[in-house]
Amino acid sequence: MIFRNKKITFGLTGGIAIYKSASLLRRLVNDGGADVTVIMTEAAQKFMSPLIFETFSGNPVITEMFSREKVYTRHVDLGKDVDMVLVSPATANIVAKAAHGIADDMLSTVILTAGNKTVFALAMNVNMYENPITQENIKKLKELGYGFIEPELGDLACNDVGKGRLADEKTIIGYIDQRLNGKHLLQDKEVIVTAGPTREYLDPIRFISNRSSGKMGFALAAEAAMQGANVTLITGPSNETLPPGINVIRVESAEEMQKSLFDHTDHADYLFMAAAVEDIAPATMVTSKIKKSNLPKILQLTQSPDLLCGFRKRNQTCCVVAFSVEITDGRERSIEKMKTKGADYIVWNDPSKAGAGFETDTNEVILFSADGNEWQIPVAAKREVARQIIHQVVDHRRHS
Ligand SMILES: Cc1cc2nc3c(=O)[nH]c(=O)nc-3n(C[C@H](O)[C@H](O)[C@H](O)COP(=O)(O)O)c2cc1C
Repeated sequence: MIFRNKKITFGLTGGIAIYKSASLLRRLVNDGGADVTVIMTEAAQKFMSPLIFETFSGNPVITEMFSREKVYTRHVDLGKDVDMVLVSPATANIVAKAAHGIADDMLSTVILTAGNKTVFALAMNVNMYENPITQENIKKLKELGYGFIEPELGDLACNDVGKGRLADEKTIIGYIDQRLNGKHLLQDKEVIVTAGPTREYLDPIRFISNRSSGKMGFALAAEAAMQGANVTLITGPSNETLPPGINVIRVESAEEMQKSLFDHTDHADYLFMAAAVEDIAPATMVTSKIKKSNLPKILQLTQSPDLLCGFRKRNQTCCVVAFSVEITDGRERSIEKMKTKGADYIVWNDPSKAGAGFETDTNEVILFSADGNEWQIPVAAKREVARQIIHQVVDHRRHS
């Protein structure tokens, strides 16, 4: 554990487990060499005095938002100019505030500034933890890339038994170490991700499309960026949001997506093709709205371009991860698609499974490699599935 040259803002909130934070702070500062500034919420100060944390950190402890002292932009600096905002213990309350963008005291304001540099080490009563509202807040923040150190099972201070006890110090330090010092899997790699559906227009109003929401592709783009990649996301219509720093190109039709993809082909190291490119398109597009009385009884269709084949012809070295949506004979068809189209990996989605496929926040997939390996990725938030896909692909390439 080496945290030299690392700046950490350490947020303390009002939970019984706060007594463990003094020891954690000592380890971060004395053993790790981190530069730590502590912020205590009002509730936290009911449990412990700032003096102990001031002594152990060697820095003044921040206890209020509107201090008369020196710097007036600390609420920004302590989130923006640090490597991590660690909240331990993290109450249900601070997680709820973070999930809803509430900034009504110094710690919540700093968290809003820091975004997904924030890590919460959760500690609370089991009912608070299992409450669907808390779970929804955690899920929302996880999808945005915030870090969570889950609580452990055991006897709680309130005499209940269940999940809610702060993880032990070793686990918390290990997590911080991994997050601050772990090598980024895609550092400085050029990564292209395609996402969302395409729209194939019959006229300016009517189009053929599909149920893709873009959630999986956006999760991959966010995760690749977090792993240090320069990411270009080429997406069809989607309401999903992204962390800053990702180059987003919005397109509508398969042809537009193909053009953007080919424009970015040359330097790509990785291509994740999560878009559901609509296979069929009206044979002709009329430039003004077709009157109801003139609508064709039979629609002439044409096939959309095959983006993967076209890309492969232009770039033979890029690692291509294709996606397939198959219900019947999915395994065989996916492997066949990977081989015939020249992909290195393929991710098979079976939308008939609960919690998988289109429009859901979760997914369950199997990742196949062209050299015959496969990895089951069990049902999880799409962001977690994205993390596992990237991890397996990079790890497999390193060892083959
Ligand atoms: C004795 C006591 C222990 C508490 N322990 C916890 C806890 O472990 N986790 C939690 O989420 N809230 C706990 N609470 C409730 C919080 O202190 C309360 O929700 C407070 O508003 C949190 O404020 P903060 O998030 O700004 O620190 C406790 C309250 C009391 C009185």
